[in-house]
Amino acid sequence: MTSFLDIKDLSKKDLERIIDDSIEIKKNGSDKILNNKNVLMIFEKPSLRTRISFEVCINDLGGNSLILNSNEFKFGERESIHDSTKVLDRYIDFIIIRSFEHSILKEVASNFSKPIINALTNHSHPCQVIADLVTFKEKFGNFKNKKVSWFGDFNNVTQSWLEAAAILDINFSIACPSVVSESKNTIKLLKNQNNKLIISENINDIAKNSDCIMTDTWVSMGDQKDKSVDHFKPFQVNSDLMLLANKNAIFMHCLPAYRGMEVTDEVIDSRSSVVFDQAENRVHAQKSIIKYCCKS
Ligand code: CP
Ligand code: NVA
Repeated sequence: MTSFLDIKDLSKKDLERIIDDSIEIKKNGSDKILNNKNVLMIFEKPSLRTRISFEVCINDLGGNSLILNSNEFKFGERESIHDSTKVLDRYIDFIIIRSFEHSILKEVASNFSKPIINALTNHSHPCQVIADLVTFKEKFGNFKNKKVSWFGDFNNVTQSWLEAAAILDINFSIACPSVVSESKNTIKLLKNQNNKLIISENINDIAKNSDCIMTDTWVSMGDQKDKSVDHFKPFQVNSDLMLLANKNAIFMHCLPAYRGMEVTDEVIDSRSSVVFDQAENRVHAQKSIIKYCCKS
């Protein structure tokens, strides 16, 4: 049994297998591998897609789902993270966590003897990116020589995409304000691992020859409430920006989208947009992630 905390922890072979198994599960379904196991989902932040798609996965895979929402439980509030986790270890077979600090996820993982799945932290959102990679592969067949371009804030989804791009050798480029890129130490680290990574404020250069244009909210859950969004406005994904990309380029967004901010209605409702395929693929991708975690 193994946990699924971040894409960077996977070998290329395991990442490719998770993607291919998702596509296979989507076509042919999956065995009831959870076999009455008790799966606890802890959501310290709001969720629609992750919460419901995981519940559908657990039901389809023959497990029992239990849920703790933020109004019922927060790690570290009534007792130490260590003590809560050791208690849960006596009841539960699998934990799926959406939390704030990545360190909470790590601490839970180090005190729980069975698998943990990262359902989003401030740092990363690997389940989303597996679904995105599945969606991309369905559209294009492979990742070879493909250019994926990200516009706007550098956030948890960007982080997991960077990690995937480094493993799969995807040409991943980021257009974001320099104040954002300069504040992220992780960018320097990942740039060393992936020499194809380009970060720039020049939206034309980044959009040119792209097979996929992506964005996400300018203000993620857990960001400071008064975060200024003005410097993101030039990075909005609109029809003019899409025209700079390849003719058959797709548009991706993990949702929820703030229409009129990071993306216009025209783009998100266009034929290029695959946002609802991404949302559907969360179910298939997460079944494949659970299968990966169950392997001995
Ligand atoms: N994309 C995503 O994770 O959505 P939720 O926040 O609704 O789970
Ligand atoms: N970056 C977003 C993703 C939501 C699914 C957030 O963390 O709020």
